[in-house]
Amino acid sequence: METYQVSEISEHMSFLEMMDVLNERLITEGKEPVAFDHDCREGICGSCSMYINGEPHGPDRGVTTCQLHMRKFKDGDTIHIEPWRASAFPVIKDLVVDRSAFDRIIQSGGYVSVNTSGNSQDANAIPIPKENADLAFDAATCIGCGACVAACKNSSAMLFVSAKVSQLALLPQGQIERKERVLNMVDQMDTEGFGNCSNTGACEIECPKGISLDNIARMNREFLSAKV
Ligand code: SF4
Ligand code: FES
Repeated sequence: METYQVSEISEHMSFLEMMDVLNERLITEGKEPVAFDHDCREGICGSCSMYINGEPHGPDRGVTTCQLHMRKFKDGDTIHIEPWRASAFPVIKDLVVDRSAFDRIIQSGGYVSVNTSGNSQDANAIPIPKENADLAFDAATCIGCGACVAACKNSSAMLFVSAKVSQLALLPQGQIERKERVLNMVDQMDTEGFGNCSNTGACEIECPKGISLDNIARMNREFLSAKV
């Protein structure tokens, strides 16, 4: 652990802007800046992954680190920042971890077949029950940040994988690979070294997108039915 003192931080700054202030100072002093991942800075890309005071994405609920504001802290606070802790997410440098295990899980089944013969049907012309459309949309809001893994004492990726499986299992477009998808994605999840789910629910609490545990139950049903 390294200790840095940071000053001139406004309560309106985001957490990453506070990190920018620190890094600009370190660069001016000829020192190594603190490496951290970020891209969109608006809660979409899921790359700004870090523990803040022991909580994935910090003390606020339903936000990513880039959406967290410094008003959540008091002047003079000591803030502990760490990278995700999970063997499937090896640390690259400082706060940056390798989350390519998630990419490999998606590659193993997170896609749909599309008829490109020239007779493809307009997706908007396929009727979908409203309830399924809403549930699929909720599952699709998962941004692959990995907070669920970081929050879990077993480093389980079940919430992430179940969101991806659910999103496609609920839609007509996802039916062709429905069975092999869940089998392959669960297999890849295990191969990557993520742990099992023991129904604690920390993932759901820390998820910045409010992905529900119901998705894990749906994935378990999908898995069992595909196996049978
Ligand atoms: S389920 Fe939530 S916490 Fe897990 S990767 Fe998706 S958005 Fe992040
Ligand atoms: S930087 Fe994209 S979600 Fe935070």
